Amino acid sequence: MQFFIDTANLSEIQEAFDLGILDGVTTNPSLMAREKVVGKEAVLNHYITICNMVDGDISAEVLSTDFDGIIEEGKELAALHPNIVVKVPMIKDGIKAIKWFTNNGIKTNCTLVFSAGQAILAAKAGATYVSPFIGRIDDSGWDGIDLIRQISHIYTVQGMQTKILAASIRTGNHIIACAEAGAHVCTSPLSSILALLKHPLTDIGLAKFVEDAKKMSN
Ligand code: E4P
Repeated sequence: MQFFIDTANLSEIQEAFDLGILDGVTTNPSLMAREKVVGKEAVLNHYITICNMVDGDISAEVLSTDFDGIIEEGKELAALHPNIVVKVPMIKDGIKAIKWFTNNGIKTNCTLVFSAGQAILAAKAGATYVSPFIGRIDDSGWDGIDLIRQISHIYTVQGMQTKILAASIRTGNHIIACAEAGAHVCTSPLSSILALLKHPLTDIGLAKFVEDAKKMSN
């Protein structure tokens, strides 16, 4: 499973990259706004900066919700760098646009996916990635991991090539469950990635090794 980081914060991206396990980055308008990236030029430059930091797929989301607008914005984003993946919302014009981008060799990430039916449509349109939002599904009382499992099964039996990019990750346990359920990629906040490092027995064991190591050095 590939590891993407879900942020527009450059120091968090650098920290995950320095770990040596980072395969890509996803952003969205809320994450860009959180970093106070304002104005078209600043937004485009921010994407270029991220592309220069991480050699992997970088999702950049369109703001338009109509076919013509999505195509115009997507072409501009894709022209920024070969690693840009155009992130398109799961709406009717979004599906039409994903089909257009697929036919024109532009990679896409179909976002805001909450059902298997939506994931089937995204794959039929040729999306490179489909992003089920598992945390938001959990928040609403359903089971996000069940959806990953269901999409994984459907894509396997149907031979669909779209990659499942599990999004809206809240915890390290979400990442583990996504790996088990068949996600190809997990995009997570830095805190969830770092949570995977932690186990109390590791801390206790290391403290003992450090203590005993002192006895070896006199
Ligand atoms: C997906 O690509 C989105 O950027 C993101 O995972 C949404 O997560 P949230 O539900 O924590 O906002």
